[in-house]
Amino acid sequence: MEIKNICCIGAGYVGGPTMSVIALKCPHINVTVVDSDSKKINKWNGPLNDLPVYEPGLIEVVKVARKRNLFFSTDIAKNIEKAEMIFMAVNTPTKTEGEGAGMAADLRYVEACARDIAKYSKSDKIVIEKSTLPVRTAEKIKEILISENKSVKFEILSNPEFLAEGTAIQDLFKSDRVLIGGDNTKSGQKAVEALVNIYSKWIQEEKILTTNVWSSELAKLASNAMLAQRISSINSLSALCEKTGANIDELSTAIGMDHRIGKYFIKASVGFGGSCFQKDILNLVYLCKFYGLNEVAEYWHQVVRINNYQKERFAQKIINYFNGDLTGRRIAILGWAFKANTNDSRESASIKVSEILFKKGASLSIYDPKVSKETIFDDIENLWAADNHFLDNKIDVLKELSDIKQVDAFVILTEWKEFKLIDNNEESKVIFDGRNINQNKNKFSIGK
Ligand code: NAD
Ligand code: UGA
Repeated sequence: MEIKNICCIGAGYVGGPTMSVIALKCPHINVTVVDSDSKKINKWNGPLNDLPVYEPGLIEVVKVARKRNLFFSTDIAKNIEKAEMIFMAVNTPTKTEGEGAGMAADLRYVEACARDIAKYSKSDKIVIEKSTLPVRTAEKIKEILISENKSVKFEILSNPEFLAEGTAIQDLFKSDRVLIGGDNTKSGQKAVEALVNIYSKWIQEEKILTTNVWSSELAKLASNAMLAQRISSINSLSALCEKTGANIDELSTAIGMDHRIGKYFIKASVGFGGSCFQKDILNLVYLCKFYGLNEVAEYWHQVVRINNYQKERFAQKIINYFNGDLTGRRIAILGWAFKANTNDSRESASIKVSEILFKKGASLSIYDPKVSKETIFDDIENLWAADNHFLDNKIDVLKELSDIKQVDAFVILTEWKEFKLIDNNEESKVIFDGRNINQNKNKFSIGK
């Protein structure tokens, strides 16, 4: 099947950047990203300095592709009908109610996509799972498609995304691997070939791995679980370092020099954040329990528990420094994003640490170079202060780092480069630096 039109459902952190790069690298294909959120689509079509996703290098890609073959639209029906290949890049959060609440992935958005695809398709389609999904979801999608549209043929592929926020464009340009899972039938393999042809425009063939659908779906969950497990392993050891006088950064360096272990993903932190690690591990735990593998489920669950422990442990150190009471104290929270170089704050350690400090009586002055004031207040309102009228003078969100004045402590929670410690005796305050989890610093101030 010749691919002339691609439609991607979901214009978020994955759909937006991924499709922008496909459009850039495949000028012969029209790529349209659709979303039910018209505000988001307007932003994708609006000024380049106000795209809904902040990613280094994204503006340059969108600038070229948007003039040519990259489109953003709310017209889901028309674009499904037109496309030969449809990506589903919608969110798959943890379920909040019903069976599996708090653990399983909520598949309602993916199922809604499948129903839309069935409804608006008038010709054969290759349907691609780009979202991270539990193993065997393709079966469910197939069921919906086949039962709701018997007049066209659907081929389902799994093509999970491995980009990390903050380095998304670089990751998409030079992927470690592109994973494509398809059925081992003639039509399944043809669909796989069509997708391989797209990626091979810029990814070396030996980096394009084709597997069966279930391996591909599960490899995505397993990769995230393995990455997060390394962070929880090193974070658990940071607690032991504090008791024994060992230094966690020295430990990381020493461990990482063993080529069998490697130096990546063993940087101790306040705990991992982001929309995916926790939800994907909980999803894995749920799947293991579903298949009766309780020991395996427990093993992975501990990765999330240690992550919660680390965030609470860090907050407790601050509380202990002020003898257990933060009433009347104002604390500067530096960084709201879950990591540097993104405007995404989902599941950030900042949110949890701020909540604990606030509930112990602290007032907060929050600054992040990329997360908007609106998002910060939304996070607070949604996560720990539904009734937020009392927040007004206890929480400020500041425009500039230099606006932070008269605080009792600085707490650095995102690794933004601009949070530099300077030796400035006049303004010196205690600093709790999430980038150097073992050390509090008493002699430094924050500066550019
Ligand atoms: P997101 O919330 O940023 O974007 C999802 C978008 O889908 C939203 O804009 C939403 O409005 C839209 N949407 C939902 N249902 C829709 C429907 N039925 N029709 C039209 N639009 C709909 O999510 P994201 O961070 O891009 O993640 C998407 C998926 O990719 C998730 O499964 C996630 O686990 C996975 N993933 C994310 C990352 C990442 O770095 N964020 C990396 C790899 C994989
Ligand atoms: C992660 C994976 O790295 C991607 O491969 C995957 O595609 C993505 O999840 C996903 O499925 O959503 P992301 O969450 O964007 O990407 O960012 P990471 O760089 O993995 O960082 C996640 C969190 O771990 C951040 O809070 C970061 O500060 C923390 N981290 C990372 C550490 O605490 N220590 C480390 O050594 C590395």
